[in-house]
Amino acid sequence: MIRLEELTKVFETPSGPVVAADKVSMEVPTGEICVLLGPSGCGKTTVLKMVNRLVSPTSGKIFIDGKDTSTLNDVELRRSIGYVIQQIGLFPNMTIEENICVVPRLLGWEKAKARARAAELLDLVGLDAKLYLNRYPKELSGGQQQRVGVIRALAADPPVMLMDEPFGAIDPINREVIQDEFLKMQSEIKKTIMFVSHDIDEAVKMGDKVAIFRAGKIEQYDSPDKVLAHPANAFIADFVGADRTLKRLRLVTVEAVSDPAWPAVSRHASIRDALMAMRERKADVAIMLDADQRPTGYLSEEMAEGASGVARDVARPLPATVPARADLRAVVSEMFAHDVMWLTCVDDNGRFAGVVTQAVVTAVLGETYRRQGMAAQ
Ligand SMILES: Nc1ncnc2c1ncn2[C@@H]1O[C@H](COP(=O)(O)OP(=O)(O)O)[C@@H](O)[C@H]1O
Ligand SMILES: [Mg+2]
Repeated sequence: MIRLEELTKVFETPSGPVVAADKVSMEVPTGEICVLLGPSGCGKTTVLKMVNRLVSPTSGKIFIDGKDTSTLNDVELRRSIGYVIQQIGLFPNMTIEENICVVPRLLGWEKAKARARAAELLDLVGLDAKLYLNRYPKELSGGQQQRVGVIRALAADPPVMLMDEPFGAIDPINREVIQDEFLKMQSEIKKTIMFVSHDIDEAVKMGDKVAIFRAGKIEQYDSPDKVLAHPANAFIADFVGADRTLKRLRLVTVEAVSDPAWPAVSRHASIRDALMAMRERKADVAIMLDADQRPTGYLSEEMAEGASGVARDVARPLPATVPARADLRAVVSEMFAHDVMWLTCVDDNGRFAGVVTQAVVTAVLGETYRRQGMAAQ
C-alpha cells in the first residue's frame, strides 16, 4: 500500500513560489492501479517524483506498506519502486539488455541472472530476446521502446510502480494494444501502481481508482464509474467530458449483463416449442442455434404465430452478434448501426452466450445513480 499524507511541494522560482502539490492525501491499496489525472501542470509528475524522492517534499509524509519512507535510504527506497518516466528515457548508447539491467546491476546482481531476467521480461511483452537483447533503442519502433521502458521498471521485481504517462509517446491504436497488454500483465504481477495520465479515457480504462488533480490539489478520488457518474464539481464534469455517460459503457462487459438463459432453440425445433419457450421467459424473440450451438438466426412471436413446421422454416438471419467479452460500447454501437433493441452474444468459439437488450444497458447506466440516491437517504 502507498499512503500520502498532506504531501506538499513548493518550488522557489525567480518569479516567486510555485505550489506544485498542495496537501495531497491519498491511499493506493496493494495490487491496485491508481491513476493521477489532470491537465498539464497540475502537479502529477511532482507527486510521483516525491514518492521515489527525485523531488524532496516541502512537507508531508509518504508511507509504503506502513513504513515512513523518509527512514529509508535511497537504495532501499528505489529497490522497492519501479519508475517509468514520461519520455520513455531509454539510454541511447546502451543495448536493450543493458537498459533493462540498470537497476539489477546497481543492486549487485550477477550478469547472467540479470540477463535471464531481461530475457524473461522481453518474453512477457512478446519481444524475442534473441532478437532484441543486443539491439540499441533506435533500432526499435516507438511501441517496442515503450514496452522496454515498462519492463525496465519491473526488472528488480519491485512491489510498487510509478508510471508517468508511460504510453504517451505512441499512436492511439498501438496505445490501446499496449494498455491491454499491460492490464493482462498486471492481473498476474499485481503491483501497487501510481499511474499518471492526462487522458480521461486512459484513466477510466487503466484505473481501479482515479485521483483528479487541479492546481496541486486532489479534487476527487473515486472509482472510474463514480467519477463519470457523479463528478464532484463543475471542473471535473468539464474535464471528464459531456459524453461521460457513454464513457461508462466501457466499464461493463457484455457477459456481466447478458441473459444466458434467453430462449434458444435448435433449427429443427417445432415452431410451437419455440413459441412456448418465448412465452415461458416473456421474451418476444427466440434465437436459433446450429448443431454446434452457434446462433444462426432468430424467430419472433409475430413470425411464429399461426405458422407450422420447424424453426428454420421461418427464422431470419441475425443482424449482428457481439462477443461476450466486449464492452457495452460495442453493444450500443451495433444496436444503433442495425437499429435493433437486442443483440445475441457469442463466446470465444462463436457459441451462443446469451442476449443483451437495450433495456438492460439503460438499467446498468441508471444503477449507480440509484445506489447513490439510496445512500443519501
Ligand atoms: N523543478 C521545478 N522548478 C520549478 N517549478 C516546477 C518544477 N517542476 C515542476 N514545476 C512546476 O510545478 C507545477 C506542476 O508541474 P508538474 O508536476 O510537472 O505537472 P504535470 O506533471 O501535472 O504536468 C507546474 O506549474 C510546473 O511548472
Ligand atoms: Mg507530467
